[in-house]
Amino acid sequence: MSHLLRMVYVSTTTNPIHQAGTEIPIDVGRILMQSRKNNPKLEVGGVLYFSNDIFFQCLEGEQDVVNALYQKISTDPRHKDIETLSVKRVYKRQFSDWSMKYVATKDRVAGLLKKFGMDEFNPYEFDDYMIEELLNLFTTTDDKTSKPDQNYSSKVQAPNKKKSFWTRLFG
Ligand SMILES: Cc1cc2nc3c(=O)[nH]c(=O)nc-3n(C[C@H](O)[C@H](O)[C@H](O)COP(=O)(O)O)c2cc1C
Repeated sequence: MSHLLRMVYVSTTTNPIHQAGTEIPIDVGRILMQSRKNNPKLEVGGVLYFSNDIFFQCLEGEQDVVNALYQKISTDPRHKDIETLSVKRVYKRQFSDWSMKYVATKDRVAGLLKKFGMDEFNPYEFDDYMIEELLNLFTTTDDKTSKPDQNYSSKVQAPNKKKSFWTRLFG
């Protein structure tokens, strides 16, 4: 049986961008469009963040589907040095409303990096705690490019709870 998976990876753009403002780099815009077109059909959701020429992406969905999508993304020439940071079996999606959320704001991330004692965004160095903190921050940060476009929550698999003795006896 396939399970719900949350995968987080990082990669570096092959098309370095010297970012001045908070505008969305053209490659990132295209990636978002592709994600928002394809992911709903796969019931995949997640979040994408781009800073310091590094992509940070979380993908949530059925295990086999996420793995296959990750394989596809890995061959994309727009990025390199792809490293999986975390793969977790989960029972609940963190980005259930999104085919692909995009967080452009750097200020809140900068605050978090400061807390971690880092002065630049380098998620290659992140540990489990830092990944979770960043994902939590992304769940509570607005996406200025789009509105939530999915409702995957109802499709989430509940853990297989064993029925209690009394439930088995009396229903
Ligand atoms: C950092 C990064 C993240 C991506 N994320 C997704 C994604 O979530 N979903 C998706 O379909 N494509 C994603 N892509 C694009 C795929 O690699 C691929 O170009 C795209 O799925 C092809 O779409 P098509 O089959 O509709 O032509 C991503 C690419 C990069 C570089």
